[in-house]
Amino acid sequence: MCGIFGYVGSGDICKTLYQGLKSLEYRGYDSAGVAVIGNSISFVKDAGTVDQVLSDLKLPARKAGIAHTRWATHGRPNQLNSHPHFDEKKKVAVTHNGIIENYRKLKEELQKRGHVFRSQTDTEVIPHLIDENLHLGEFEAFKKAVSMLKGSYAIAAIIDGSERVYFARRFSPLVLGVNGDYFLASDVVAFLRWTKKAVFIEDGEIGYIDEMGFHIEKDGVKVNRKPTTIQWNFEEAAKDGYDHFMLKEIFEQPKVIKQTLSSERFKGLATHLSTLDKLVVTSAGTSSYAGLAFKYISQLPIDTITASEFPALYRGGEILAISQSGETADTMTAIRYAKSLGAQVDALVNVVGSTLTRIADKTIYTHAGPEIGVAATKTFTSQLAALYALNSYMRGTEIPKIDVKPGLALNKDLKKLAMDISKSKSMFYLGRGQNYVTALEGALKLKEIAYIHAEAYQGGEMKHGPLALIEEGVPVVVINPQDSYRKKMLGNIEEVKSRGAFVIGFGEEGDDEMRALSNVFYGLPKTEVSPITYTVPLQLLAYHTAVVLGRNPDKPRNLAKSVTVE
Ligand code: F6R
Repeated sequence: MCGIFGYVGSGDICKTLYQGLKSLEYRGYDSAGVAVIGNSISFVKDAGTVDQVLSDLKLPARKAGIAHTRWATHGRPNQLNSHPHFDEKKKVAVTHNGIIENYRKLKEELQKRGHVFRSQTDTEVIPHLIDENLHLGEFEAFKKAVSMLKGSYAIAAIIDGSERVYFARRFSPLVLGVNGDYFLASDVVAFLRWTKKAVFIEDGEIGYIDEMGFHIEKDGVKVNRKPTTIQWNFEEAAKDGYDHFMLKEIFEQPKVIKQTLSSERFKGLATHLSTLDKLVVTSAGTSSYAGLAFKYISQLPIDTITASEFPALYRGGEILAISQSGETADTMTAIRYAKSLGAQVDALVNVVGSTLTRIADKTIYTHAGPEIGVAATKTFTSQLAALYALNSYMRGTEIPKIDVKPGLALNKDLKKLAMDISKSKSMFYLGRGQNYVTALEGALKLKEIAYIHAEAYQGGEMKHGPLALIEEGVPVVVINPQDSYRKKMLGNIEEVKSRGAFVIGFGEEGDDEMRALSNVFYGLPKTEVSPITYTVPLQLLAYHTAVVLGRNPDKPRNLAKSVTVE
């Protein structure tokens, strides 16, 4: 979703703001803008891509500036609604992520006092509030304005006359980068090319960066915090010769899963979980499928609750929250609610220092490295790998062998298949047991990046309604390894086939029955971790279909990498 970037330093301000913002593009956005301090505040902003709006950026800047990518919530993407926003005199420029819940009331009051608004955004109240309080001094004015806001925010502001970038955080991520120059960003990927030294800002904190360093305070008390070193590399966040980040990230999976399993850090949590009567897993989207897989493979009774439905369904118990970004608003709200009722929260997260890791009592990391493609790929299989490992430690058994290379080896064949299915209006994905999860994930990937309608069903459920939708040529992807469900799935394949479905079968090498029943068949070796093994070719199928259709798989329409609104 929206991305914030700020910079104070001796480098080329405009170039740095542009490069920082480029690195935040992956979060998803529809408008871009920057503001810098020179003799006065100058700015460029509009709807469009960072390149459309900000290439050839030449603004008279001295040492400080802010930049923003906006994902529209209040008001359409257009020039006026793009960030930064200003007071009438353009003494203050503000970028903001999140939602100011009391903005209508604040706006009415400000209008009564003569302030004129230009945009439909909630953000615009902030520069006006700062401006009104400037007689208190810059930082005091900023603090006063922030104290009047309700809702969620990460804010970056500049004020004409100084060389500072002010910031504040509540429920929306913000992190500083430090290397003699100072950076402010929604996530570390934005400044990785310059520094790996990061200072994470916590909820309720407010401060500024300037030439002298950084200042953070909470409730009027100075916070002393040392930078931590981020293990990610800038190169990991680059395309590395691949056409898209998504393809690169799919092919990174062998290495990533090794990284995930590289230490025994799951042991402690496994020992603890083994003592529980019940566990509640909460998460969203693809991460919720990882939670569902855990329910299928674990002997521990597990409730899975979609994060956005959490308060309606939660009846107590320890929580395992799963999130790649560690920032998903639905998941954060769910665990804050559980914590308010006294629950212990454990977390499985990819992004180091993210909000979830701050709220959770215990965090284990997937160590999948930065994932830039909006669609979750390597982070999903690394979540699954972590959950299989957790399960093995809980049972006292060996961690099963995980090999995703056979799925990757199908790349060329799946590219060909993508040409055929790209003409489809609708598709089905069927699986049983833990491979219902594989079906869900395969269908979601196709929907979100190829924009083809796809539904996942448990094999046995088709005859209870959806079978009515099967007609001549409808593609049905079937995931059917040789497990205890295989025979019943063969029956389900017959059902769709006899109604004209085009069956795309994924099963075990040498499974002649599956081969004979399928219109096209892809064989994979025997595996104990079929949701991992079989998800990989489904990622590739979705990727190639998106490319055939001319969609950009890295930036699917309407979607964002880090979903920070409920
Ligand atoms: C799908 C996808 C989303 C995320 C969901 C949760 O490819 O990426 O469905 O899985 O938004 O995100 P995290 O895992 O960051 O909480």
